Amino acid sequence: MKTIGVLTSGGDASGMNACLRAVVRRALWRDLRVLGIRRGYVGLLKGEAGLLNHSSVSNIIHVGGTILKTGRSAEFYEPAGRIAAAEQLRGLGVDGLIAIGGDGTFHGAHALWEEHRIPVIGVPATIDNDVYGTDATIGYNTAVSVAVEAIDRIRDTAAAHDRLFFVEVMGRQAGFIALQVGAAGGAEMMLLPEVHSSMEDIYKTITDGIARGKTSSIVVVAEGDEEGGALEIARKVQALGALECRVCILGHTQRGGPPTSDDRILASRLGAHAVDALLAGECDKMAGWAGGKAVLVPLPDTWEKRKPIDRELYVLAQVLAS
Ligand code: F6P
Repeated sequence: MKTIGVLTSGGDASGMNACLRAVVRRALWRDLRVLGIRRGYVGLLKGEAGLLNHSSVSNIIHVGGTILKTGRSAEFYEPAGRIAAAEQLRGLGVDGLIAIGGDGTFHGAHALWEEHRIPVIGVPATIDNDVYGTDATIGYNTAVSVAVEAIDRIRDTAAAHDRLFFVEVMGRQAGFIALQVGAAGGAEMMLLPEVHSSMEDIYKTITDGIARGKTSSIVVVAEGDEEGGALEIARKVQALGALECRVCILGHTQRGGPPTSDDRILASRLGAHAVDALLAGECDKMAGWAGGKAVLVPLPDTWEKRKPIDRELYVLAQVLAS
């Protein structure tokens, strides 16, 4: 292996740059050439790539977003798109590819290996943390920190006005962010896709709290909750009884900004681990971090198996907020 390619794909996650820095510097240290592919699979299909050196990744460890830029490619979902992508990689002289991203990125990387025998290693980076086989994904810790800070601020104004707030956090199909943020922010309730709560349960929890003397409450809603987003749930609660409430959707604020130290270190470890894995002849695996050590997990396992939410924490958070 002489030349590796690296790309960031799907939703950006804070720490992707720290990971890119680790990939590039570890690869150079191991005498490899590194091609940075721009805009994920979108740019790969257009052959948008350039050599990266030490200084290409200077001063980015603390920067959110991704200097390679990212994208979601509909063309790459089709077999014809992947034939074109494999031709581009061969034309660029890429002997192995490191794909930094989440579930969609990993599906694409796996297909490149399965259909075209391009050696690939995935690095988990998504704020959602919904990737099996790694304790955390790059960007998750930062997203949680941003949202907890927002909840702290909302709690002040909620208490001042005796208000009920529904705060929506990201997490398309997963409640990891909502659970962590709700537990750390002392939320009265957390609504997660993994746990069923009926509208009656939600209304009762809020009104029981009021009956016990609570004058303000915060309900954290994962955007993927089955009852809808925060706006819809607030409307449904109001239909059950006149409660004054406000809605705050944190949205993409959770994706931007400098990565936390945890994310920088995770990203640095996994970027280097991915390079070492490719050089060791590994492929079609994710470079993850589990139980305090670097691991390699078959890519299909990362989406076929489901990472469970911490139900003990969910129950504890509710007991403590009651
Ligand atoms: O997968 C990461 C994520 O931030 C999800 O939490 C969210 O649902 C989605 O991406 C938003 O995607 P976009 O930035 O394309 O709107």
